[in-house]
Amino acid sequence: MEGRQEDIVILAVETSCDETAAAVVRNGREVLSNIISSQIALHTQYGGVVPELASRKHIEKINQVIERALSEAHMALRDMDAIAVTYGPGLVGALLVGVAEAKAIAYAAKKPLVGVHHIEGHINANYIENKELEPPFLCLVVSGGHTHLVKVAAYGAYEILGRTRDDAAGEAFDKVARAIGLGYPGGPKIEKAAQQGNPSAIPFPRAKVADNPYDFSFSGVKSAVLNYINGCRMKGLPIVEADIAASFQKAVTDVLVEHAMAAAEEFGIGKLAIAGGVAANGTLRRGMQEACRQRGIAFFYPSPIFCTDNAAMIGTAAYYDYLAGKRDGWDLNAVPNLRLS
Ligand code: KG4
Ligand code: ZN
Repeated sequence: MEGRQEDIVILAVETSCDETAAAVVRNGREVLSNIISSQIALHTQYGGVVPELASRKHIEKINQVIERALSEAHMALRDMDAIAVTYGPGLVGALLVGVAEAKAIAYAAKKPLVGVHHIEGHINANYIENKELEPPFLCLVVSGGHTHLVKVAAYGAYEILGRTRDDAAGEAFDKVARAIGLGYPGGPKIEKAAQQGNPSAIPFPRAKVADNPYDFSFSGVKSAVLNYINGCRMKGLPIVEADIAASFQKAVTDVLVEHAMAAAEEFGIGKLAIAGGVAANGTLRRGMQEACRQRGIAFFYPSPIFCTDNAAMIGTAAYYDYLAGKRDGWDLNAVPNLRLS
């Protein structure tokens, strides 16, 4: 399949954590292929992502994943207008595999190279299925490494209103899941266990951060869960996993909804989007949907497959960067702690 003259087609690569991913995206919002090779089975044995193993697995899989992305899109490298890659933030060894691969491909095929910020990718995942969504809007980014409340002022222009002071929301899910013996990755396991539980069973704290109403803190609720479990053990009381999972999930999602609504009201923004792995959580999606409905705010969210790490979102973000003239040189490097703004 040949693209029309005016089409911009981008091959995107994502290897920042534990998914080896490649996608072909046309004109920013049309995903022609989206291949994800998950390493979950590998890391589950260790209870979390082992960075060294993640890098090795990326090396093993990256070429096959890219080949499949091109073949499912019925395209060849020569049809691409640019090669995009996540260059940060993330695990440095994991990022380096994607960056080196994208540079080699772009150099050999004489294509422009566009480095993409991973969180920008998560935010841009909302454009894929919501064709009418345009800035300005608010976006709550909740992933394993990040919790940001962001004002998307224009394509590629981000203003961070709030961020976590300690654990990320997904990190809290992962740590609590480990504490109650559910294993890795914690988010989906907590969500499943919570379905049988009572969200009002245990009053876990909803932390406020004194000097910024939009900042988050999740280490307190995590410690409260650990203390609760220890207390049950010492008193010989049963540890009801489902109630702990449901009460913890409600405590975290209540805070996320409350902060997002407060920001939408203060800044007078009538559009709210969510992004990142935790945005796949049903309790968060329903809570946010209802809160937005009550206030007349339009609510946007990606399908779960575009919430967790994928390369289609990187191709979407790269398209807007490409239109803005952003190009990277052969010195593009991995930046593990890259900031959004
Ligand atoms: O965005 P992502 O795939 O990777 C990062 O950029 O971090 O997010 C992974 C995180 C993990 O912490 C995982 O436990 C969490 O997202 N997660 C969920 C759900 N699915 C994934 N958390 C809550 N509920 C879920 N259904
Ligand atoms: Zn991510």
